[in-house]
Amino acid sequence: MDKDKIIALLNRDLEGEHGAIIQYLVHAYAMGEGEMACEIEAIAREEMRHFDWLAETIVSLGGTPSIERGGMRTGGEAVPDWMKNDVLLEQDAISLYEEHIKAIDDPKIKRLLGRILSDEKSHQGDFKHFVNKAQKEGASDLRGSRQDRVAQVLNWGIEHEYTVILQYLLHSYTTPKADVKKEMEDQAINEMQHLGWLSEEMVDKKGSPKIEHTEVDKSIKTADMLRADIKIEKKVAAEYDRAAKEIEEPDLKELLTRIRDHELYHADIFDDLLKEEGKRG
Ligand SMILES: [Fe+2]
Ligand SMILES: [Fe+2]
Ligand SMILES: [Fe+2]
Repeated sequence: MDKDKIIALLNRDLEGEHGAIIQYLVHAYAMGEGEMACEIEAIAREEMRHFDWLAETIVSLGGTPSIERGGMRTGGEAVPDWMKNDVLLEQDAISLYEEHIKAIDDPKIKRLLGRILSDEKSHQGDFKHFVNKAQKEGASDLRGSRQDRVAQVLNWGIEHEYTVILQYLLHSYTTPKADVKKEMEDQAINEMQHLGWLSEEMVDKKGSPKIEHTEVDKSIKTADMLRADIKIEKKVAAEYDRAAKEIEEPDLKELLTRIRDHELYHADIFDDLLKEEGKRG
């Protein structure tokens, strides 16, 4: 099989991981702070590792990782239905990996996909167990329908964080500069924390997190990536600042201020890297 064909298959796997991460995070956040929510979040983190391995493999083959999100199995009235959807999504992944392991002959890639496949089988077992557990314990959807300014600010933040996570991951995979790559990875992890904080806060405050993103910068040159990243950081730092001043609730004010400070830090880090990049040319 030629490289382009392998890259295309791995990108389908990558999109599947992306869908799984978001589906599981939506479920975990909606369930609040219980033990099952923590376990589901841990599974989402394993899917993030799969995402990372697949993206790096695609880059090593000369391809560009896709940031499209694969199919999700949404819907379901109650938590046991969500867990059934998660069992089905794992089945989608298992079938796809089995098919791709058969189709690809490169032994290293086969081995990687086999490694991921064994995780997916284990996750499917976990979700089957959660279907029963949710039925017995009556786990519930803690989300509300809050739509006021607080909910707007939180969903704006969630949308921003999701966008920059994808942007910084893409930049980290595609830049050839090791120091830029490392910072992009670090800041993407920090943005994942922000996404989690804002989503949990949203459920706490009886709203419903909407995990969607806006357009992602796909610059090719490292200097262009950094310029786009600096621009977005400065813009959102100003917006978090405005929101922190406007919001009355002290805990939310504090959270928004803390995130603002992180964003200012990110802008400074990227600024330094851009200066370095200018010197290197
Ligand atoms: Fe996975
Ligand atoms: Fe952030
Ligand atoms: Fe940031």
